Formats: sequence, C-alpha cells, structure tokens
Amino acid sequence: MELVDAPHSKCGTFGFVGSSPTAPTGLMNTYKRLPLTIVRGQGVWVWDEKGKRYLDSVAGIATCTLGHSNKKLRKALTNQLSQIQHVSNLYRIKEQEILANWLVQQSCANSVFFCNSGAEANESAIKLARKYGHKKKGIQNPIVLCAKDSFHGRTLAAVSATGQPKYHLGFEPLVQGFEFFKYNDIQSFQEKLEQLEKNGPQVAAVLVEPIQGEGGIKPGNKEFFKFVREICTQKEILLILDEVQSGIGRTGNWWGYQSLNIEPDVFTSAKGLGGGHAIGALLVKENANIFEPGDHASTFGGNPFACKAALTVIKEIERRNLIKNVIDRGNQLQHGLNQIVDEFPSYLNESRGIGLMQGLVLKENIPLTLASIVKEALKHNLLLIGAGENVIRLVPPLIINKRQTNHLIERLHSTLRGVIQ
Ligand SMILES: Cc1ncc(COP(=O)(O)O)c(C=O)c1O
Repeated sequence: MELVDAPHSKCGTFGFVGSSPTAPTGLMNTYKRLPLTIVRGQGVWVWDEKGKRYLDSVAGIATCTLGHSNKKLRKALTNQLSQIQHVSNLYRIKEQEILANWLVQQSCANSVFFCNSGAEANESAIKLARKYGHKKKGIQNPIVLCAKDSFHGRTLAAVSATGQPKYHLGFEPLVQGFEFFKYNDIQSFQEKLEQLEKNGPQVAAVLVEPIQGEGGIKPGNKEFFKFVREICTQKEILLILDEVQSGIGRTGNWWGYQSLNIEPDVFTSAKGLGGGHAIGALLVKENANIFEPGDHASTFGGNPFACKAALTVIKEIERRNLIKNVIDRGNQLQHGLNQIVDEFPSYLNESRGIGLMQGLVLKENIPLTLASIVKEALKHNLLLIGAGENVIRLVPPLIINKRQTNHLIERLHSTLRGVIQ
C-alpha cells in the first residue's frame, strides 16, 4: 500500500472542525463538537435548548431521510415496540423478510444480509470479497482494490480500505490486503491492476463509492465506472459499491449506481435506510451469494425494530414520490449554489453533486476555513457540515420542499456574506 498525503491533524471528524477540543464530561474525546445541543426536531427543522430554530442541511449526516419526528415513523415504531422489538436471527423475522424482498425487487441484488451501520456493512463486504477470492478464484491472499480519497468507515478493515491516510494515523498495523488507485482515473486503475496481477490473479474485488461523500462530494465518472465494470466482468473480480451515503434516493435514484448506468455485483447500504435508526445492509447478486451459515452474523442485525424503521422509510419515499422531489430540489439547490459561486468567485471554485448530495468547493489559500463557515452558519440558523478539506456539504432530508430549499440557499448565502467581508 502506498497512500501518502500531507501530514494531517486527525481532527475534523465529519467536518465538525474547529470547535472545542475538550469533550463534555464523561464522554471520550472522539468528536470535535459544536457548541450546540439539539433537543427537538420536526421535518427539516431542529431546535436548540433555548428554542432557537435551525434549518437542518446535515440530516444526521445524510441519514434522516424523512426529516425529524416523522409521524408515520413514530407511529410504526411505537406499534412495533408494543409488538416485538428484538429477536435473534436464530428465528425467522417477518419484518426482515419483507424488507429484504423489497430491497431485492428495487435493486440488482437478489439477497441481503442485515447489520447495523455503514462500516459494518462494508466490513461484511470485505469478508465476502476475501471468501470469494479464496473460494472462487483460488487466490491465497486476496486484495481489495479501493480508491484514494474514499471513506468506508471506522472499523479496522473499513478504515484500512479508506483511501485517506489521516484516518490511519495511530492505528497501524492496518488490515492488509488493500491497494489504492485514483478515483475516476482509468489509467491509474489499469496500472494498479496490471501491476498487482502481473503474475496471475490477486484481486478479489474493487470497492468504490458511486459518488465520494466524505472525500469531498465527488461524483463518479460514467466512463470510468463503465471501464471498471467491464474489467471486473472480464476478470471475474467483484465490483462492490459503497452506497452507504449515496443510496436510498439521495442521488435522485434509489441507488447511486443507477446514474452511472452500471450494476455492481455487491453493494452496501446504511445511513438513509433507517431514516435515523441503526441499520446496515450488504446486498449481493447471485454470483456473490457465497456466505454460508457460520460465515458471518450480527446479534442486532435485521431486528424487527430496525427493519420496521427501514420499511416505513421506503414506503414513505414511494408514497410521497420523494425520488422525484430529490431530483427537483437537487436541481433547485444546484442552481442556487451556482449563483453563489458566481457571486464569490475569489472564494469558491465550483458546486458539484447529484440530487440532494451537493457540495460547494472552496478555493485553496483563501483566508477562510470550513470550520469558520460551519460556525457562522449557526448564526444564520443553518446547520452545515463539511466534506474533505474544502467542501461545504449539503445533504438535507429528502422531504425538503421548494420554499425550504430557497431558505437553505438564502441562509447559505448570508452565511458566506457573514464570513467574506
Ligand atoms: C460512503 C460511506 N461508507 C461508510 C460510512 C460509515 O458509515 P457508519 O458511520 O454508519 O459506520 C460512511 C459514513 O460517513 C460513508 O459515507
């Protein structure tokens, strides 16, 4: 592995940069938190302890699909709690089977394993890739090929697959068996693969995000993904897409891969799937359906409560035609962001993204930090989050309406005016 970037502070987790370095009493010092306690939410709005209202363009980091305190979700989960909350996977679970059926009908996959988070879903995918490498390809030390600037989570294998050295610092030795190429770069991908396979098959899988999220809202390039898909098919390498942030309607399709016109062999989901409740999923096509009893498991994975949350989320997305809303609001947001870029050309490079996964890219060497913008936004009653080193990320709930999207643009605009004097 040869991933290098500039020496880096490990702070700035999820873009919460620049606030207090000390953790609240009793909590480990794992997050740089903003000086804000959110106590209530409704739709796209949240309130702090003093009753101040904010427009939420963070949505629990691309997670609260239906916004906050959604009536249908509240009702469904209250009913579920009074019926049954958790049973082991030793038994059949009705809600899990209904959810799995829906997921396979709405995707290219034909079976699902449930877990509790994005990192865990990717961890499962990596285990699956290794087993596939051993069993189907006879590779002794299977490699998973990943992209630079990617993000796949914080468990040891997921973080080792993450193409950003700042997340590795202090946790060496990392899990072995990951190699990296430049995202969206056919030549880099081809060279890496040739180098690894010059003496025969070594690569079991390619793991990549259809649009890089934490790495700075970088949409995948269709030509690149077409090329990777073709090579993977030719060489019987699994193409695994990390749809943890991009899935469940966020990009204006159920899945990010749909806007790239390809199908993965395997993909992972979490975040928006539970609309704020912990659930993750590993989804596979038949060629990758190789786990057997005993290979992998999760105590909480696919419990009735989590599955009910996900079922309610997807039913609501369908009932309210939220995918169409994502497309319309995404276009509206993009238009507003482009106008903001035009207004501050010495500070902003471009806006980029798909659907309601948008980013505003700051120029380098400007007297402005992402942290100062996120903080300033609070004064303008707006919750913002960064992505990468220089991108303001906008991932509001999928229910955001036209008027609220205008509010978002206006508040972002006044935030930038506030820091750019
Ligand atoms: C693409 C991607 N994969 C994986 C993860 C990790 O998900 P989790 O925090 O649920 O473990 C994230 C979280 O930001 C993500 O954006």
